[in-house]
Amino acid sequence: MEKKIKVAVMGATGAVGQVFMWMLADHPWFELTYATASASRVGLKYASTVHWVMPFEMPKKIRDVEVKEFNIEAMQEEGVQIVFSALPAEVASEAEPQLRDNGFFVFSNAASMRYDPNVPILIPETNIEQLDLVQAQGYPEKGFVVTNANCVTTGLAMALAPLRKYGIKNIMLHSYQSVSGAGYPGLSSFDITDNCIPFIRERKRRSRKRSRKSFPLIQRYTVSPFVYRSCLDTLKLSGWIWSRMLRLRTLSRIADFKNVPDLPSTAAQPVEYGADPTFPQPKYAFWGNPSGMVVYTGRLKKKNGKIGFLLMVNNIVKGAAGGSIQNAEAFVKKFGLI
Ligand SMILES: NC(=O)c1ccc[n+]([C@@H]2O[C@H](COP(=O)([O-])OP(=O)(O)OC[C@H]3O[C@@H](n4cnc5c(N)ncnc54)[C@H](OP(=O)(O)O)[C@@H]3O)[C@@H](O)[C@H]2O)c1
Repeated sequence: MEKKIKVAVMGATGAVGQVFMWMLADHPWFELTYATASASRVGLKYASTVHWVMPFEMPKKIRDVEVKEFNIEAMQEEGVQIVFSALPAEVASEAEPQLRDNGFFVFSNAASMRYDPNVPILIPETNIEQLDLVQAQGYPEKGFVVTNANCVTTGLAMALAPLRKYGIKNIMLHSYQSVSGAGYPGLSSFDITDNCIPFIRERKRRSRKRSRKSFPLIQRYTVSPFVYRSCLDTLKLSGWIWSRMLRLRTLSRIADFKNVPDLPSTAAQPVEYGADPTFPQPKYAFWGNPSGMVVYTGRLKKKNGKIGFLLMVNNIVKGAAGGSIQNAEAFVKKFGLI
């Protein structure tokens, strides 16, 4: 590639924003050009103002990035084409349509535009055809918004993709969501230390609705989730699936992914199954290549016509910023921007 595409990160200091900054520091196609946070940080150097919560050192290249205000003209002057959004939904609901209307290609983690019928909820390994919707939004003449699924739906859609040809009917799941899923600073340590909270507002309804949009090939199934807030990083799901024609021998196909898109942030094997009964565990959250982009499954079993397994997804990498970066890569590749 001769010239990198200039990109901006909105909400660069939050839990998801930090992953964007880390993954974009040395990206082969994208050049980090603009980063925003809330007004009190404007004008400060990134390293001096962010509370870095990633489990490794901050890349040198982003330490001196200046935090800027949300200013569409300034972004246009800098030559930004792609905007990654890690804004809270209520802020994104105003900012993202403005960005789109000014011609930017917006890749968002926020929920605010996910139910617009022309806005894709994209997971390149499972529903790449959703990317065609950017043309329904007016691309190439106009900007657009592409969202990724939330972390529960991402993990589930990835783990079930190899099985969808077997006609899934019902899914019953328990979702153990990480503390980082609530953003930074999130929950009080008094509330979560040595604890597991069996309720997260809004999560049950959303995972049902989004799973349907992210699974266009499955027209009819029901998802019955229990949701909990538990460990620091990574989301874990345990679940049972009922399908019309699942045979025991097909269980070996649970990590058998076909047509993996060749993108810089996509793992060669996006779902990995571990046979060890203690696998997977949240301490492997940043395993894999690229780090945090692999969905891990384990504890596979069959009982009374249904199959059960555990899955683990890094909610801030594959389930958020890494998924958005992958979506932007899929877009530039499909429409020949590289
Ligand atoms: N955390 C996850 O696992 C996860 C997974 C999937 C999707 N998401 C979604 O991703 C988005 C970001 O989540 P998060 O967990 O990273 O949240 P977060 O930790 O609360 O970070 C929010 C970011 O937005 C900035 N911000 C807040 N209010 C602003 C305003 N009025 N103007 C400009 N910037 C503002 C914050 O800046 P300051 O630091 O200066 O306040 C911070 O950089 C949310 O929509 C969330 O639902 C999160």
